Amino acid sequence: MAVSRRTVIVSAAGGLALVGAGGWWRVARMPETATAPWDLSGPAPADIRLDAFRHAILAPSPHNLQPWRIRLDGEDGATLFCDLDRRLPQTDPFDRQVTIGFGAFLELARMAARARGYEMEILPFPEGAPMGDRAGRLDSRPVASLKFKAVAGLSSDPLFAQIPERRSNRSIYDMARPVDRRELRRLTSNGLDWRVRGTTTPDYVAQIRDLALEAIAIETKTLRVHQETVAVMRIGAREVDARPDGIDLTGPGVEAGAALGLITREKLVDPSSTAFGQRLTQLEKIYAAAPAFIWVVTDRNDRTSQLTAGRVYVRVNLAAALLGLAMHPMSQALQEYPEVADVHARLHALLVPEGGRVQMLARVGYGPAVPPAPRYPLAAKLV
Ligand SMILES: Cc1cc2nc3c(=O)[nH]c(=O)nc-3n(C[C@H](O)[C@H](O)[C@H](O)COP(=O)(O)O)c2cc1C
Repeated sequence: MAVSRRTVIVSAAGGLALVGAGGWWRVARMPETATAPWDLSGPAPADIRLDAFRHAILAPSPHNLQPWRIRLDGEDGATLFCDLDRRLPQTDPFDRQVTIGFGAFLELARMAARARGYEMEILPFPEGAPMGDRAGRLDSRPVASLKFKAVAGLSSDPLFAQIPERRSNRSIYDMARPVDRRELRRLTSNGLDWRVRGTTTPDYVAQIRDLALEAIAIETKTLRVHQETVAVMRIGAREVDARPDGIDLTGPGVEAGAALGLITREKLVDPSSTAFGQRLTQLEKIYAAAPAFIWVVTDRNDRTSQLTAGRVYVRVNLAAALLGLAMHPMSQALQEYPEVADVHARLHALLVPEGGRVQMLARVGYGPAVPPAPRYPLAAKLV
């Protein structure tokens, strides 16, 4: 069906219809099955491991690639592997970020097990691991080996209930509503006594924001890096339901743009296209709306530190959900590809002059609620 700009009608309900010779053709809907794993209201699986993992798959992961592969061992064990095809070699050349995602996964599994009276023992990298910084990537060896043990008298973690509420919220935050310094401290104190810092000081916030903006412009304009991101974009509800991972672009505007051929993967990587320009402008608006920042630091950058950073980060993200604060990781200036090295160095000088590795940086503020991101069902992650 040929469509022109005028035949696209965005309905008041947010749906979208195309009007053609054959009458109305409804093309837009929001994803339907892609967010089903967030509904935890059904009966809990009898096997504690499955209960823990149905929570853990809701963890954040770079570009939402959900790289987990889970093997159940015997009656009470499990081994966690990385799906090596679900990594991002351009933006994450040493698999640092993917490992942070595994830390978040482990923390959610641990909290969910605990809520049912089980301790989840974590043995990280039981067969060893390549070093985290510039010395190798993850391989087929396990990321963690886990044992579940019933323990009497365990209390549930107060952040457990926030697992289905947690979001990476990329909306434009309300710059007229500052984040109270004490609120930010309540947030950063949820990090397992780790080094979680934060600031609401306008000058400091502005310096961090400017570096984040510089880094997002570099990422978007570095073709091979940007191509990696665009390759995992899912454009429109149909693609998102078919492949519930990656960067999901949905909503009436996207459906309309896609139907008209204005939003395509080819256009999104082409700096001369309108789609490219609009996306960069939108990203710049989002990145500029930063009332406060938090960042997670580790002394070393080995694999275990990266896992801990992920555990800490997700706890802070859950605490934000509890406090009604929106949070958005901004990792571009923390990445290790050559073009961003200068911004990376300047950001570290600004955030950790005493030394250390900034593992996560996130914008914090008040913003409109956003729907949960797509997820594969747990069954797709079991090997
Ligand atoms: C290590 C790491 C780095 C991330 N960096 C970014 C980022 O730079 N920008 C962004 O929008 N989201 C970032 N995210 C968030 C993921 O994109 C997000 O977790 C994923 O899309 C799933 O969404 P959810 O967190 O709302 O469940 C990062 C997540 C992790 C674990």
